[in-house]
Amino acid sequence: MTDDGARSNGVARILIDDEAIQQRTAEMAKVLDDEYRDDVPLLIGVLNGAITFMTDLMRAMQIPLEIDFMAVSSYGAATKSSGVVRILKDLDQEIEGRRVVVVEDIVDSGLTLQYLLDVLQRRNPRDLRVVALLKKEKADAIDVQVDQIGFTIPDEFVVGYGLDYAGKYRNLPYVAVLDRRVYAAE
Ligand code: IMP
Ligand code: MG
Repeated sequence: MTDDGARSNGVARILIDDEAIQQRTAEMAKVLDDEYRDDVPLLIGVLNGAITFMTDLMRAMQIPLEIDFMAVSSYGAATKSSGVVRILKDLDQEIEGRRVVVVEDIVDSGLTLQYLLDVLQRRNPRDLRVVALLKKEKADAIDVQVDQIGFTIPDEFVVGYGLDYAGKYRNLPYVAVLDRRVYAAE
């Protein structure tokens, strides 16, 4: 159990703490700095889950950059991706000829990201890369492009640091596994 207030009610254990996230984020930012030194990359955050990672990642980067956001939603069950994705909020700008970096919170089945990459690729960016904070170890995940992964995690449902369960827990400063009783109570 954690003792950081009511926001952590239902958390079973911390998987990745704040310090580890910040340390890894700094490493990932350095790789991006080196790669895009002579360009101004456009970082695209995937709402809502990626906002926390996005703001930390961009502040850890030293080069000039721009940001934009997209919101997507999977149809179907809440904790499982159906692969049918709907764009809820599109980009505010054109990406043709731009160097684009998609910033994702987590890649689970990979279906959401694959759909997003297909959509963006059709808009003819100069290149298109993906940075994800988390990737689940999953046998049946599709082989989607992810250029940098922060942490590979077990196939468990996680919350915190932007990730939600039923809309809550996004404001935890760490990535945590929920107590099964939270699901059972549904
Ligand atoms: P995918 O299409 O199965 O890869 O699912 C991707 C999206 O589902 C992520 O961008 C998250 O929004 C959400 N998601 C997948 N796994 C988790 C999890 O363990 N906790 C919270 N959200 C998740
Ligand atoms: Mg997401």
